[in-house]
Amino acid sequence: MKRAFREFVEEKDIKAVKQIWLECGWIKDIETDGIYVKDYFQASEDALVALINDEAECAVKSTKGIMQYLDERFDMAAITGVTTSRISRKLGFARELTAELVARQANAGYPLSSLGMFEQGFYDQLGFGTGCYEHWIKFDPATLTVPNPTRPPVRLGIKDSQAMHTAMCARTANHGSVNLLSPLFYETEMKMTENGFGLGFFEEGKLSHFIWGKSEGENGPLVVTFIAYKNKTQFLELLSLLKAQADQINQVCILEPGHIQLQDLLKQPFRSRGMTAKGQFSHESRAAAYWQIRILDLYACLAKTHLNGPSLNFNLTLSDPIESSLPEDSLWRGIAGDYAITLGTMSSAEPVHQTDLPTLKASVNEFTRMWLGVRSASELAISTSLSAEPGLLKRLDETLRLPKPFLGWDY
Ligand SMILES: CC(C)(COP(=O)(O)OP(=O)(O)OC[C@H]1O[C@@H](n2cnc3c(N)ncnc32)[C@H](O)[C@@H]1OP(=O)(O)O)[C@@H](O)C(=O)NCCC(=O)NCCS
Repeated sequence: MKRAFREFVEEKDIKAVKQIWLECGWIKDIETDGIYVKDYFQASEDALVALINDEAECAVKSTKGIMQYLDERFDMAAITGVTTSRISRKLGFARELTAELVARQANAGYPLSSLGMFEQGFYDQLGFGTGCYEHWIKFDPATLTVPNPTRPPVRLGIKDSQAMHTAMCARTANHGSVNLLSPLFYETEMKMTENGFGLGFFEEGKLSHFIWGKSEGENGPLVVTFIAYKNKTQFLELLSLLKAQADQINQVCILEPGHIQLQDLLKQPFRSRGMTAKGQFSHESRAAAYWQIRILDLYACLAKTHLNGPSLNFNLTLSDPIESSLPEDSLWRGIAGDYAITLGTMSSAEPVHQTDLPTLKASVNEFTRMWLGVRSASELAISTSLSAEPGLLKRLDETLRLPKPFLGWDY
């Protein structure tokens, strides 16, 4: 079947895209929450549709972000929607249209692309590698070991979305932290939160720290979907707000903030787990590696890679599976090739192979995971096709001793 892909045009496509989102179960009703589909597409930097009989049946979109890598910040394009209608499934539209979107991100100069996946495997075909395990923690807020609040927070609502977005972007940045830069995208996410509410604090006239989430009925669960803070005092103050709801709320669900072990702040977590195991409000912690990322520009990524470990030179034979999903006339064909790599205080990639260096063979999927610190070279060599002689793997492990990357922003 001939592929007809083009840029999303609101006047022509919005009705069809709402229908796609309805068929995907992303909205419940075209008339009510269907209005947010328009906002989501307006908040996108790039959006494409695939047509059947001149009607959009598959839609993909991407928004601007940044990612923290040690002390550096990288521009990053985030794929925030890949959707296919009921009549266009399993025809390759979604894969090829997403590949086209990724090529446009690369041509626009983004060094990185990332996404939240529906399943492992689909985006692997486009060179995306799986991130590290993130933890969803469900706990009884009464078991938090933090003190009660010492001052009342301010109620936050949709009208404060701009201030919340600013606070999210200014929050403490760990290795891997992501900010999505569109305030409209953030506002739309908030509007899509059923029974959404926020609690926060202002310092020097600016929202400094807050939580945003939703709560069901009288007893919860209370689900925290966004949390922003800049230091320990602010973080503990936000937890004290959760604890303060414990007379009514039996369960809080939260994506564990990167680099904090929430269990440290819970009283008798194993007892709680045992006591609530089969209950409605169980105490549990579930790990899932649900986001993926890929390098689009190897030179740009390595130019801003500053590592403390011993310096290392090696050849890299890089494969990139996206090539087979791109049309033959695509100018960008992925980043497969032979490179000479230097990793260290100053890192670089050169488009050559040097005869006297050992060689690392990897797909861009696995190389991205190693570079970001999701898993070490030695670990990836066990569970994936990444390979090198043992001596090189060991030296890669020593040079790329990175903190685990956590996004801190679910999308
Ligand atoms: C996700 C979605 C876009 C995929 O659409 P689709 O029509 O199946 O996609 P395509 O036809 O382009 O690709 C399907 C092919 O991808 C490959 N594929 C899909 N899932 C895979 C997986 N988990 N592992 C490996 N390959 C996979 C297969 O080759 C499959 O074809 P096959 O089953 O005939 O072998 C569609 O199911 C959808 O719209 N879902 C609802 C919205 C959603 O969840 N979007 C994803 C957000 S991250």
